[in-house]
Amino acid sequence: MIYQIYPRSFADADGDGIGDLPGITSRIGYLKDLGVDAVWVSPFYVSPQADAGYDVADYRDVDPVFGTLQDADAFIQAAHGAGIKVLVDLVPNHTSDEHEWFKAALAAAPGSPERDRYMFRDGRGENGEQPPTQWRSVFGGGAWERVLEADGSPGQWYLHLFDVKQPDLNWENPVVREEFHDILRFWLDRGVDGFRVDVAHGLVKAEGLPEWDHEQGMLHGKDKDERPPMWDQDGVHEIYQGWRKLLDAYDGDRMMVAEAWVEDADRLALYLRPDEFHQAFNFNYLEAPWRAEDQRAVIEASLASADEVDAPTTWVLSNHDVIRHATRLALPVGVRRPNGIGADHPQPDAELGVRRARAATLLMLALPGSAYLFQGEELGLPEHTTLPDGVRQDPTFLRTGGEHLGRDGCRIPLPWLSQGGSLGFGPFDLTWLPQPDSYAALAADAQLGVPGSTLEMYRAALRLRRQHDLGTGHVEWVEAPSPDALVLRVGGVLVLTNFGNDPVPLPAGALVLLCSRELVASGGDESRPSVPVDTTVWMNA
Ligand code: GLC
Repeated sequence: MIYQIYPRSFADADGDGIGDLPGITSRIGYLKDLGVDAVWVSPFYVSPQADAGYDVADYRDVDPVFGTLQDADAFIQAAHGAGIKVLVDLVPNHTSDEHEWFKAALAAAPGSPERDRYMFRDGRGENGEQPPTQWRSVFGGGAWERVLEADGSPGQWYLHLFDVKQPDLNWENPVVREEFHDILRFWLDRGVDGFRVDVAHGLVKAEGLPEWDHEQGMLHGKDKDERPPMWDQDGVHEIYQGWRKLLDAYDGDRMMVAEAWVEDADRLALYLRPDEFHQAFNFNYLEAPWRAEDQRAVIEASLASADEVDAPTTWVLSNHDVIRHATRLALPVGVRRPNGIGADHPQPDAELGVRRARAATLLMLALPGSAYLFQGEELGLPEHTTLPDGVRQDPTFLRTGGEHLGRDGCRIPLPWLSQGGSLGFGPFDLTWLPQPDSYAALAADAQLGVPGSTLEMYRAALRLRRQHDLGTGHVEWVEAPSPDALVLRVGGVLVLTNFGNDPVPLPAGALVLLCSRELVASGGDESRPSVPVDTTVWMNA
């Protein structure tokens, strides 16, 4: 059970409206009581924050916004003291344009070793005025930016698959490879238990940078049958084999998990070979529609492909890049998930969303493998769907001229208390993004110890998961009472999810352990209740 902390929005100790490492350290007790095994912390390194820290200017230091290196050490120590492992986020595809290397590259001449650490190319056209290719940035617009040479004349172009402030590194250059080995060691030596590797499918680009004039998307890199020249190239694997050797040489149990948006299960499995990543996020699961047949298909396919390479399956429903599942699951099935929801959009049904989210979570938490939780989902937090455009900070919003609203709505500062200006996020009223009105009633203090609350459901599920060893169990499918329901057995737990429009009967003789929603009386027979729609129930099998 790995819990993702998005440091900007978790807890703010110093009151500047942005979360920080001391804030995280102060909440370790909460995480321990929740029952997580590990945390993954999104980037807290020195960064101009052009992409909320995924634009790193110094990989070996902490941004003053988040604290100091000593604060990082204190946090790692406190987490370990509570029996929680720590994964940090590694961003190897690109640096910030404010990284020393990039500044040196700009100051140096075309063809210099400084430029060769990035992807500089001459432009096309008579005077090099056209970009080298038509590649698009994931955040909108073109993926190339022209620089001014030292003499002030328009010069070469550099590649940025993300924001213009995130120049892509050249992974063909051994200096880049060595540097990252060193960065890995820096954090391993500080005691971290592993890494979440950002854009792990992007580091190596196809030779010669072949043309690719198609829309790009964080989650939909592929809108054609061929593999895009910037994603999932075979050359990435030897990089990870090198990292794996490095990790394995350390004591203890160090791991790395890939953020690789690779749809093809067999291609994704390559990242999980025994000499590469330990785990990879299962984005196909996150994307699967809320329908019994789709959910069964994705669960079966995920288990099968992980088995092939003998890696644990992973499960994820929310993170800092997608619409929170308590909102997403209320969107119409079959429609492509929007990148952000705004006040002008149809507003998803909040009650339906949270009901499905709780059912989805309880199904997920029964499945063997590792589940990744995103901070605040344990409170049933919805997406902020009415953020004013003026406060949006995601570069996607700016680079698409507002066509894509972006990811700010899932990154709202957490409500710890139901009272007070920032709902307990920090000591004062400040929050870097405004919290929606609905967050007060969902604050942690309003749910703690309250039977039936989402927080108590998560805590109970994690406790039972541990007790019954569900994480290492096997899935056995059981005949369902309706085509719109799924029933499966993992270890000693029988799980039923009802995706349909009508209640289904609870299996005869079942002893209920936990349910995502109160069961209903069926036909006057109180002893044999029904499982209402959008509900998951765990039973003693
Ligand atoms: C990853 C991160 C995302 C970031 C992007 C560029 O997908 O999860 O937040 O914007 O990489 O680093």
